[in-house]
Amino acid sequence: MKPLHQPVRMHIASVGVSKFCFLLSLAFCGLLLLLIPALQPSARQADLPQPRPQVRPAQLSSLHHARYQAGSGYGRERDSDTKLKKEENIETEITRREKHGSKRETDSRAGALTGGKNGGLSGPKTRDLLELKDIFIAVKTTKKYHKSRVGLLTQTWVSKAQEQTFIFTDGEDKELQKRTGANIINTNCSAAHTRQALCCKMSVEYDKFIESQKKWFCHVDDDNYVILPSLLQLLSSYHHSQDVYLGRPSLDHPIEAAERVKSDGSVSVKFWFATGGAGFCISRGLALKMSPWASLGNFISTAEKIRLPDDCTIGYIIEALLEVTLTHTHLFHSHLENLQKLPSDTVLDQVTLSYGGFENRRNVVSIVGGFSLVEDPTRFKTVHCLLYADTDWCPKIKARHKH
Ligand SMILES: *[C@@H]1O[C@H](CO)[C@@H](O)[C@H](O)[C@H]1NC(C)=O
Repeated sequence: MKPLHQPVRMHIASVGVSKFCFLLSLAFCGLLLLLIPALQPSARQADLPQPRPQVRPAQLSSLHHARYQAGSGYGRERDSDTKLKKEENIETEITRREKHGSKRETDSRAGALTGGKNGGLSGPKTRDLLELKDIFIAVKTTKKYHKSRVGLLTQTWVSKAQEQTFIFTDGEDKELQKRTGANIINTNCSAAHTRQALCCKMSVEYDKFIESQKKWFCHVDDDNYVILPSLLQLLSSYHHSQDVYLGRPSLDHPIEAAERVKSDGSVSVKFWFATGGAGFCISRGLALKMSPWASLGNFISTAEKIRLPDDCTIGYIIEALLEVTLTHTHLFHSHLENLQKLPSDTVLDQVTLSYGGFENRRNVVSIVGGFSLVEDPTRFKTVHCLLYADTDWCPKIKARHKH
């Protein structure tokens, strides 16, 4: 019996070992299968050929703007490329941007994938790392509003973005500069509210932005309050090397104009434009492409050719000539809207606000805070104190009961 037992035991033992090996390899295969999807996205990210729109964190999807269309205007050869060579510094910048854009975009995408969930301003390190100082904010005004309108802006939001805000006006005002410390730029344009004068100012704004090296160009009027945290959050969901044109369309349909730049005016073009009175923003990547029609006085001649106001001309250059679409957003507001209709609990989430002028004094945002309508007819001080409660002139919580 003994000799028989030995092989049987060995046989059992060897079956045990191969069974163990089999189970081990099964487990290993299972683990590999689990790992494959986890490894894939990072591999795909690494060989992205061109910058693409960033992954939008969930929180931002609640904002009422349309998604930027991927690829519009990218990788296309244009006549403008040769025209760009006139301005060598601009071209060098495009080259530099294209070289580095791809890698940086990959970095920020990875950030958005891993840490974007908390979104907003709580986790800027995990996103594009856009800072307020990267945004060039142009405020368009005229000398007669230096005291009233500009005074209110420098007292409120401009004081929180002093370095990057530039006030474009049409007259010298040493006193305003001294009193507020703001960057005042005398455009030497006419003070008349004509198309030519307005286009002249926009032309200077554009050139100053290009000179500034900042990532984003935002234009607002002197009756706009810019909610800086919202602006930063909105722009952080895009990349400045993409073609981005953000704003509120002033009409519910595209405008139609005779094409007098690319052809003789016998055909017409349809395009959307962002209303200047609500403010709009343009990425540096797109602004550089606008150069043949916008830089060094070209903006004025483009506007003259199509005979349209400054904001329409911006839309014409971007949508009709460069074929980049306006990203519609309702976070920008002008005095032409019914501002009272804006729900109170969403006022601080907007990007720009405005107020009705002399003819419509009651058209203001409905928000309750430290100041009555008589003390703060535009509601800008109230908005400012809700955003920055520690401002020295803001009423303390207790003081509020006095009013
Ligand atoms: C406006 O004119 C003044 C005086 O001639 C000049 O110093 C300034 O640079 C001009 N502004 C612009 C934007 O060209």
